[in-house]
Amino acid sequence: MIKVRKRKILLLSGDGIGPEVISEVRKIIEWFNKKKSLDFQIDEDLVGGCSYDKNDTPITDEVFYKALESEVIMLGAVGGPKWDNVEFAKKPERALLKLRKELKLFANLRPAICFQQLVDASTLKPEVVSGLDIMIVRELTGGIYFGEPRGIKPIENGERKGINTHSYTSSEITRVARVAFELAKKRSNRVTSCEKSNVMEAGLLWREEVQSLRDKEYKEIELSHMLADNCAMQLLKNPKQFDVIVTDNLFGDMLSDQASMLTGSLGLLPSASLGAKNKDGEMRAMYEPIHGSAPDIAGKGIANPIATILSFAMALRYSLDLDKEAGSLEKAVQDVLNDGLRTKDILSNGTKEVSTSQMGDAIISKLQ
Ligand code: IPM
Ligand code: MG
Repeated sequence: MIKVRKRKILLLSGDGIGPEVISEVRKIIEWFNKKKSLDFQIDEDLVGGCSYDKNDTPITDEVFYKALESEVIMLGAVGGPKWDNVEFAKKPERALLKLRKELKLFANLRPAICFQQLVDASTLKPEVVSGLDIMIVRELTGGIYFGEPRGIKPIENGERKGINTHSYTSSEITRVARVAFELAKKRSNRVTSCEKSNVMEAGLLWREEVQSLRDKEYKEIELSHMLADNCAMQLLKNPKQFDVIVTDNLFGDMLSDQASMLTGSLGLLPSASLGAKNKDGEMRAMYEPIHGSAPDIAGKGIANPIATILSFAMALRYSLDLDKEAGSLEKAVQDVLNDGLRTKDILSNGTKEVSTSQMGDAIISKLQ
């Protein structure tokens, strides 16, 4: 059994804009080490397409073991059109899914917060999104992403059949619901659980298990259930009705992309993927921006590093027990936005365009 090494941070920058945004986080970690006398140990390695190019696999065993012993993994992004024709088992995304599954990172926290400075960047009316603060808790190691049987197989008449299986056990549902309820206790005690219990048995089980946990252990939580398609609609119609949303792997993937656009830019939203705490209180966790590798803008120095920097703030809060530092990093981001500095994706009239690294530097200067 590989033990988690305290304060060990593994940077897996990956593909596309991943290296650019992760290098801003590296600067911030180094700043905390130097100025706040923290003792983060940084290691760095390959994952995704760049690992495939070099090692013929999207993640080597060596990197996987490094990930196992790290307290925090900071991931940039994986994938891109360059690897479109790579065989399925070696696609860049397989590395990400392997890390999630084998490190048992079952709870994926995806906050969607609309920054006041960027209300106009959303395609929705300002009054619909202003003040928005939602937390989506996505189940991350079960459901149709991992269910068996799966595959593509030949059938009669020269046809082929593609198969994936959507399944959940009670305990898989309960443990992620518990994370959502615990988060809700620190917010407004409201949780909406989403599934398709009208068409899927696994959705019905989801609804029953979430309700039963609420009735047994979380009576203070106001729990409502919503069909996932209705939730997609309600997120556009009246997103502020939601506080914490808990849902399965596939619906969480889609609803979180949708929620992200309420806030104006995919470039702002962080995420945390958390495992269970062991008896020594150790927890494995991976943090990543929810945007992808954005190959079209890679290497140009224009990517927005804020989502990744805010992901590191989540790491400070959820893994490293440094709430105060997390708050000061989040405040530094706000201050820079208040100063009118913007990367290209969120540029608007009257603001000043800065590069990826200028944005990182500006945030560090606010930390001082
Ligand atoms: C995400 C991504 C991943 C997912 C891909 C890259 C495998 O879309 O983290 O939301 O589908 O989970
Ligand atoms: Mg996604």
